[in-house]
Amino acid sequence: MSLPQEFFWGGSIAAHQCEGAWQEGGKGPAIMDFVTKGSKDVPRAITATIEAGLDYPSHQGIDFYHRYKEDIALFKEMGFTALRLSIDWSRIFPNGDDAEPNQAGLDFYGSVIDTLLEAGIEPIVTLYHFELPIHLVQQYGSWKSRKVIDFYLTFCETVMRAYDGRVKYWVTFNEMNHIDPQSEHSDIFTYLVAGLKYSELQNKAQELATIGYNMTLAGVKAVRLAHEINKENIVGCVFGLNPIYSYNCDPENVLKGFLENDRDYYQIDAMCNGKFPRYKLKEYQAAGLTVTITEEDQEDFAKGTLDFIGLNYYFSSVAEPKEEIGGEASLFGGVQNPYLKQSKWGWAIDATGIRYVMNYLYRRYELPIIITENGLGAQDVVEADGQIHDDYRIEYLTEHVEQIRKAVEEDYVECLGYLVWGPIDLVSATTGEMSKRYGFIHVDLDDKGQGSLKRSKKDSFHWFKKVIENNSEEGVE
Ligand code: BG6
Repeated sequence: MSLPQEFFWGGSIAAHQCEGAWQEGGKGPAIMDFVTKGSKDVPRAITATIEAGLDYPSHQGIDFYHRYKEDIALFKEMGFTALRLSIDWSRIFPNGDDAEPNQAGLDFYGSVIDTLLEAGIEPIVTLYHFELPIHLVQQYGSWKSRKVIDFYLTFCETVMRAYDGRVKYWVTFNEMNHIDPQSEHSDIFTYLVAGLKYSELQNKAQELATIGYNMTLAGVKAVRLAHEINKENIVGCVFGLNPIYSYNCDPENVLKGFLENDRDYYQIDAMCNGKFPRYKLKEYQAAGLTVTITEEDQEDFAKGTLDFIGLNYYFSSVAEPKEEIGGEASLFGGVQNPYLKQSKWGWAIDATGIRYVMNYLYRRYELPIIITENGLGAQDVVEADGQIHDDYRIEYLTEHVEQIRKAVEEDYVECLGYLVWGPIDLVSATTGEMSKRYGFIHVDLDDKGQGSLKRSKKDSFHWFKKVIENNSEEGVE
């Protein structure tokens, strides 16, 4: 056995991290347009207005808006068979609640999609990748309001009809699982998902429970809608899952590991099992939190189940053990794993973890999986002759593809494709830096927003081309 011949090989990008042109083509302001550049140690600032003198990386992105033809030609040269891209809601409905869509926005994505199809690249379209018109936050309080569900569905219907027959693979949301009412959060994660700062929520747990519920409901409604519009549509939702291991085999720590890990799954349960999970409702009840489930909602959960699960995988972490160990903190809580090395940004490198999550997901839901993001954020060095020898990236990706192959060949997981995050360097979501690079294609742009924006091929570009040709990381020298 090996990876299926029709396996999708390609990459994933998000509008706000690459397009730039934030005030062109009738685009309205969206949440990420108000987030400044930070770094590993300095959190990105979230400002109420655009402040002069501050640096907002989404405004320029990597100028994909004007250069997508050149970029797609490079993806084609590598042999991509799929590209996951997001449609920025604020390009289609600048305020989110407008009566009519913005034709220039529809034309832009229509042209991107046509360029992909001409290049033989399947577009996999994300409908919400941290791109929410700011007006919906200011006017309605973001996803706390059910009205936002209706606006989202109008947006979904508009683009699903506009690109019907040209786009078959849809993703309802990217990584809504970072909203969990029972955990502490940093501002940036609740902001990415919902445009709200955690520290400013009045009634944190209740608001997050409502947001989590409303987004989950919006997700299943969007699946139903896509199937009604065209029964050939294949619809998934993408989750960012970092397995949380237990610190040791002390049964109490094992249970802690399980429970911490499980917090990421209630929305997937709701989207795959045809109902909002009872265990979560009971947890809410015990904590004095309420979510209101109508009969219509129940029908949506029953009829809007997913066709595939998108898995974004970067690293794993370890649940805080019961004993004081003074371990180093991991990004989403818990501690770092002493068995693993970390990237420069503190993300533990764990190729086995991807096989572990793929198995976990497949056995729990028996749905096909697409690896919708994976990659290594690293600082690259451009040599005097212009070359970039990113062997560390090749090593990271080789190990991960090997584990994916094993999950398919040895564990019988159904996996439809492997999409590398940021196949072209783009703005980091958590830090806003350009210097945290994932790409096979280098973009000449630094953290100060300076550079020619010229694209050039790294060593990994040639490596990935061979991987695609061979349909395996094996046999690639
Ligand atoms: C994923 C997001 O969680 O991680 C992407 O879907 C993001 O938008 C990616 O870019 C990598 O994170 P970062 O912070 O390194 O860009």
